[in-house]
Amino acid sequence: MLLGPPGAGKGTQARILRDRCGIPQIASGDLLRAAVMEKTALGVEASSYMDRGQLVPDDLVLRLIAERIAREDARVGFILDGFPRSVKQAEALALMIGAQGVALDKVVAVNVPDEELVKRISGRRTCAKCQAMYHVVFEPPRVAGVCDKCGGELYQREDDAEETVRERLKVYAETTRPLIEHYGRIGILSQIDGLGTPDEVERRLLGALDGLVRAKRA
Ligand code: AP5
Repeated sequence: MLLGPPGAGKGTQARILRDRCGIPQIASGDLLRAAVMEKTALGVEASSYMDRGQLVPDDLVLRLIAERIAREDARVGFILDGFPRSVKQAEALALMIGAQGVALDKVVAVNVPDEELVKRISGRRTCAKCQAMYHVVFEPPRVAGVCDKCGGELYQREDDAEETVRERLKVYAETTRPLIEHYGRIGILSQIDGLGTPDEVERRLLGALDGLVRAKRA
């Protein structure tokens, strides 16, 4: 599981890890945004919280996660990105996967200072078609506003507006950061520096996962 504040690079690193290990990335934010786009009842309810930068109620998120984890491709393992987001969600997850005889192998917290987070989030652009991610300065597309991979249109997430980002950082500090202590106590936590290029962060992440990635690929 990748843990960290908004903009820490969880999604970027989870995708790299997914491609390297061949196991799915399960991102609660992506699942929620898909529900919002499809205008499902859950998506409509969730969007009012997401637009304000607040956490979506646990019952909605847990339902999405339970459905996703139950899919065939997650049997070989999965990378959690953005879930759990509170000690309560972590306890619910442990019960959910524990019932299948599974437990989290590792939690990696990605640490990035607030001023860098704001820079990263304000420059983020996402492809409306394939969800590929770019940054206007750090990882720009070849043609501005157009996805290199599929030609889709790039958009800025609504919750990336400055005021909403500030609220998301506050929610992280109050509700999600306590997970560092929670997983530290359980003994499966590593912390890495999230500053530097995505390649540099990837190397630190692989170092923190050493043994685990090889074991999964064997
Ligand atoms: P979610 O989608 O999970 O957003 P988040 O946690 O706020 O994280 P982000 O997606 O903003 O950042 P990231 O760490 O993935 O960084 P990224 O790789 O994109 O959640 C959105 C909302 O959904 C929440 O506010 C909440 O309402 C709801 N929600 C989600 N999960 C929930 C849950 N479990 N319970 C309740 N509610 C929930 O990188 C950011 C940018 O930086 C990109 O442009 C990228 O290209 C760039 N970048 C990445 N790495 C680097 C680097 N090393 N150097 C320079 N730039 C970089």
